[in-house]
Formats: sequence, structure tokens, C-alpha cells
Amino acid sequence: MLLINKSFKVFAGVLALTLATCAVVHADELRAGDAAHGAKLGYTCLGCHGVADYRNAYPAYRVPKIGGQHADYMAAALAEYRGGARLHPTMRAQASSMTVQDARDIAAYFATQSPVTSQGKTVGTLPPAAQACAACHGADGVGILAEYPTLAGQQVDYIEQALRAYRKGTRQNAIMAGFAATLQESDIHAVAVYFSNQRPALWVPQATR
Ligand code: HEC
Ligand code: HEC
Repeated sequence: MLLINKSFKVFAGVLALTLATCAVVHADELRAGDAAHGAKLGYTCLGCHGVADYRNAYPAYRVPKIGGQHADYMAAALAEYRGGARLHPTMRAQASSMTVQDARDIAAYFATQSPVTSQGKTVGTLPPAAQACAACHGADGVGILAEYPTLAGQQVDYIEQALRAYRKGTRQNAIMAGFAATLQESDIHAVAVYFSNQRPALWVPQATR
């Protein structure tokens, strides 16, 4: 028993070391997002994301605006589709057909043409239910860190369905599961309308070639 325990500890130690080394090598291999390469790869995305008010077939909500979204968040979102934390079948197929570097390049392309940056002003008054949200998503809907999605100008029905998906657990994220649980069904619409009204807004990308 003692022996097993000891060799397990050695094994666990080696495993931890190997994982740490992998993580470092992995990060080193990735380049900063290459927007020019992303423009070539991102062309197919415009079939849905480049059409204003394009609707997802089922359930029927509008496709999210990705123009001006934070690149780091977008790359993470694509990794979540690939990994299964998000279940949308078309986006899972799209995300699975690209490398991690491709995802960074595409995200850089959609993020950098005209990034949404905070002007420090809000449109209307933050609803009480959205007070806590502003700590990360900004009172004006511009995510305060690159990992926090910008919500300013996002489609109302997309925001609503995202919050319902966190509550149901069909979209998995440890942070948002907790915050979405604080919202009543009646809060969800008010919060979505508020963030959708903020300016400057996310935009619908157009073909650039
Ligand atoms: C057939 C239509 C379609 C195509 C083509 C498509 N998407 Fe999407 N995309 C969607 C829909 C619908 C959603 C919302 C899915 C959900 O509810 O999770 C989405 C979600 C996303 C999100 C998450 C946005 C957010 O705010 O979290 C990103 C990022 C994204 N798509 C990027 C891309 C990229 C990059 C491509 C091209 C490689 C692409 N999409 C191609 C329909 C499409
Ligand atoms: C501690 C920081 C933090 C707080 C506070 C927070 N969020 Fe989030 N939010 C995040 C992160 C990180 C994500 C990305 C999660 C993921 O990848 O699914 C996110 C994602 C979202 C999304 C999905 C956006 C998209 O483009 O798909 C919505 C909508 C959202 N949050 C709304 C809210 C609301 C409403 C509140 C308040 C009730 C709130 N958040 C509070 C960090 C936060």
C-alpha cells in the first residue's frame, strides 16, 4: 500500500510537470492573431455573421454580431464550441474545422477592423438586475477585459437565449452559470434590451474583398 502510494505520488508529480511543460510549449507555438490570414479563413463566416438580422433556424434567434468583439474572447468562444461547452451544431462544425492558430487569426480579423472601445457613457439607466454585470461587461456593455465579451449593440434575442442557456446548463461556464442564476425570467429581457442599446455597438462584418 505504501509502495503504491509512493509511486502514485511520483506519477502524479511527473504528470503535473509534463502538463506544465506542455502548456508552456503550447503557448510559445502560438503567434499573435494574423488578421490578414484571418480575412481569408473568415470569408465563409460571413454567410451567416455578415447578414444583418440573420436568424438561426431553430431555436429562432438572431446570429450574434461578432464585428468589434474582443479577439481573446472570440478565440475562447471557438474553443468552447470545439470542446463541447457550447452545443450549437453548426458552430461546433465550424470551430472543429480550424486549428487553434486559425481561430486566433479569424478572431483578430473580426476584432480589429473597427474595435468597440468604451467611451465612458451609457444609454439609459442600468437596470437593477444588471448592476453586478457591469463589473465585467462594463456599464456601457464594453467588456473591461479581453476575456469578457462586449455586449453593447448585441442582438436582444441572442443575449436572452445565451442567459437562458447558462441557466439551463446547455452552455457551460462557471462564472456565468452563477450570474445568470441571479436573474428572474422577467429581468432577462430588461437586461438584454439595456445592453443591446449601448453605443458604440458591435457590428455586422461585411466582405472586404
Ligand atoms: C450557418 C450559420 C453560421 C456560420 C456559417 C458561422 N456561424 Fe458563428 N454562429 C452562428 C450562430 C447561430 C451562433 C450562435 C450559436 C449559439 O447560440 O451558441 C454563432 C456563434 C458564433 C460565435 C460566438 C459569439 C459570441 O458572442 O459568443 C463566434 C465567435 C462565431 N460564431 C464565429 C464564427 C466564425 C469565425 C465562423 C466562420 C469560420 C462562423 N461563426 C460561421 C452561425 C454561424
Ligand atoms: C466576473 C465577471 C462577469 C460578471 C460579473 C458577469 N459576466 Fe457575463 N460573461 C463573463 C464571461 C467570462 C463570459 C464568457 C463566458 C463563455 O465563454 O461562455 C460572459 C458571457 C456573457 C454572455 C454571453 C455573451 C456572448 O456573446 O455570447 C452574456 C449575455 C452575459 N455574460 C451577460 C451577463 C449578465 C446579464 C451579467 C449579470 C447578471 C453578467 N454577464 C455578469 C463574465 C462575467
